[in-house]
Amino acid sequence: MVLKNIYLENYRNYQRQTVNFNENLNFFIGKNAQGKTNLLEAVYYLSTGRTFRTNKDAELINWQKDFFRVSCDLYKENVNRDLKVEIYCDRNGNKQIKINGVKYRKISDLFGIMQVVIFNPDDLAIVKGGPGERRRYIDLEISQVVKGYYQVLANYNKILQQRNILLKEIKNNPQRADSLDIWNEQLIKYGSIIIKNRMEFLQKLVPLARKVQEEITLGQEKFDVKYQSQIIEKPIFDEGKISELFRNVLRDYEKRELIKCVTLVGPHRDDLIFYLNDKELRIFGSQGQQRTAVLALKLAQLKLYSEINGEYPLLLLDDVMSELDITRREYLLKLIKNNNIQTLITGANNDLIYAQNQKSKIYEIEKGVVKNYGG
Ligand SMILES: Nc1ncnc2c1ncn2[C@@H]1O[C@H](COP(=O)(O)OP(=O)(O)OP(=O)(O)O)[C@@H](O)[C@H]1O
Ligand SMILES: [Mg+2]
Repeated sequence: MVLKNIYLENYRNYQRQTVNFNENLNFFIGKNAQGKTNLLEAVYYLSTGRTFRTNKDAELINWQKDFFRVSCDLYKENVNRDLKVEIYCDRNGNKQIKINGVKYRKISDLFGIMQVVIFNPDDLAIVKGGPGERRRYIDLEISQVVKGYYQVLANYNKILQQRNILLKEIKNNPQRADSLDIWNEQLIKYGSIIIKNRMEFLQKLVPLARKVQEEITLGQEKFDVKYQSQIIEKPIFDEGKISELFRNVLRDYEKRELIKCVTLVGPHRDDLIFYLNDKELRIFGSQGQQRTAVLALKLAQLKLYSEINGEYPLLLLDDVMSELDITRREYLLKLIKNNNIQTLITGANNDLIYAQNQKSKIYEIEKGVVKNYGG
């Protein structure tokens, strides 16, 4: 895939800006608060219909304006096609998505069209943050490669909410317990699909991440990820089997759930546990080790997506160069160059040294205006 250009209108601190991209490396440098992250965010937004910083679209509209519009042109090698993606949002809550001029209703229609992998300093939360961060990470990534997964998640969450309401109602009116079974079956149905997909995703991703981690650390660090769940103890890929186990555990927890009035088991309670040399990374890893592990995951995703789709996704690196040591930085730049992975990198002015000896185009961003560096 090649992202040819992007157009931003009233997006955050941009007024009207077109940026034409290089097929390889694109370095965006500039002082703080000029619009570097905003630009990467807009690219990410066109890919997923949401941003990594907020879930309120209104925050993306320039403070002085009532709407924003972003669009991009891309070329998909795997289907030999040019595509145009456009998103419009206004302060009345209207949101319009168009692909090659055709309107789409759901943001999930965007998934799979322009795949991106982003790595930014906040991603450390995948290791250091709570279980919710890790579930959000894995679910969003699966949505990019498995058609319909996003909808399954939405269905599951809706049922979970309804079931929690019912658990509260039963407390006041025990007769309502009759309808619990119906909700249980729905919860099990969608929950088992979620668990199965997470298992399959990890089964493919983890060996690739382990390999990257080994290469970066010259064989010093063995990386591993385990899926933690009350429902399954070891990886299971059979949906029927997962459903059966889910049903049993749900039965075991029913009394406690009726006291607490919340659903205590299901994929919404599961977690991913990262290990480095068999020690839990979240607890024992240094900051650099944690960051490297996240980098390994992201680079594994690049590889996995390229295997699935026959083309590399776009790589977005926000502010990470200065946070990596020289070995890791060089590994990353070499990988990008050798595989011709189109990449957008942001950094401060002193990150320019990494850009100069590469096949790269350098841009400077100042107050929401993007210019060719030195031009
Ligand atoms: N809706 C908005 N309307 C106008 N300006 C906005 C809006 N949202 C954010 N901004 C401004 O955009 C500016 C640039 O933000 P951005 O995060 O892109 O900076 P940056 O270049 O990545 O800086 P840093 O190097 O500090 O990461 C900020 O000053 C911010 O206040
Ligand atoms: Mg930034």
